[in-house]
Amino acid sequence: MKSNPRLRATQAAKEELSRLGVDPFSVQIDRIVTPTVGMIGERETILAGTNNYLGMTFNAECIAAAKEALETSGTGTTGSRMANGTYALHHELEKDIARFYGKRDAIVFSTGYQANLGMISALVGPGDTVVIDADSHASIYDGCALSGANVIRFRHNDPEDLNKRLRRLGDAAKDVLVVVEGIYSMMGDRAPLREFVEIKKLYGCALLVDEAHSIGVLGEKGQGLCEEEGVVEDIDFIVGTFSKSLGNTGGYCASDNEQMEALRYTSRPYVFTASLPPATIAATRKALELLEKGQALRHQLTSNANQLHAGLEALGFKLGAPANAVVAVIIEDKLDALHMWDYLLKHGVYVNLMVPPATPGSYSLLRCSVSAAHTSEQIQTICDTFASWLALPEDSPYRRPQA
Ligand SMILES: Cc1ncc(COP(=O)(O)O)c(C=O)c1O
Repeated sequence: MKSNPRLRATQAAKEELSRLGVDPFSVQIDRIVTPTVGMIGERETILAGTNNYLGMTFNAECIAAAKEALETSGTGTTGSRMANGTYALHHELEKDIARFYGKRDAIVFSTGYQANLGMISALVGPGDTVVIDADSHASIYDGCALSGANVIRFRHNDPEDLNKRLRRLGDAAKDVLVVVEGIYSMMGDRAPLREFVEIKKLYGCALLVDEAHSIGVLGEKGQGLCEEEGVVEDIDFIVGTFSKSLGNTGGYCASDNEQMEALRYTSRPYVFTASLPPATIAATRKALELLEKGQALRHQLTSNANQLHAGLEALGFKLGAPANAVVAVIIEDKLDALHMWDYLLKHGVYVNLMVPPATPGSYSLLRCSVSAAHTSEQIQTICDTFASWLALPEDSPYRRPQA
């Protein structure tokens, strides 16, 4: 096949990184030691760039539940939920999710990505309008694209802008689906959810909230921002993922909507893919049970987040949001960010490098994510490693050559 012009820009960007000797998108963790430590080559590395917020991946009860399901129900379902892939376990997990949120119904998808795709594309279609926060996750954008609906973006976390855009729609605003997130994954900032709920009530439209980064992290029961803000009942569709605080894979939507059952027949990302394997479901059910009574884990997570946020702030770094499980260090220059990320990795600290256009602005981010499983010593080591980069001489290979 001839060289594909669509891939050339990406190829060029990748080659530029190779020339710099930095490849942030090909990091391989050779061995996982604990939820917060991995071996990269021979180097023991603190994992501060996962979404393992509660450290659930190595939980003994979750592993035992997964093993049992693996032995009793096999490795996979080999089919879609609508064909041969619905086991009693799938329905049990759906009941758990519905009960967890106090909602009438829940649907489980094979990933969090598919939960957004599946819900948005089933709820709106050509001729409808979906109004989304401009900084929405790719799965929300892709769900909108799949739906064929008219997409309107409002300024990130700006209730006034949302209000303005709905007002402009006149009577049609009541049929709109508004989509926001709880905690935003890049910067760790929270949506002004109560204000969004007021607006949705004003127009009578539907509100879908993606709690991917807030389930397990916020709220007494860990339901997320909707619980923390006291608006669980007001959210029409609560979407989320099992791949972060629950330490597994899969996605869900919980809702009081009476048409959830019908949605199963129309949602292509639900119908046309294999269902979750039994071990995944069993471990997720156990993790959800632990998450719900996991106040101590949430307190530990908050304490760790405060320590990291305070430590990095004291070093003079500009941070994306108040202390949270996601602590994003804002670096204005992309090359600085690349060199700094590389330095951290070579010195035993793995964080996420985010560069434009993946970031909300023109800056780059070193996105650190905190886990309840991090020790205070590990958090201190992360801060010390950032500090040692600041102390490097100007001619260090880990510094951008000065003009
Ligand atoms: C806000 C948000 N929604 C959905 C997803 C997709 O979840 P998953 O990785 O479980 O498919 C992510 C993943 O990062 C996310 O950040």
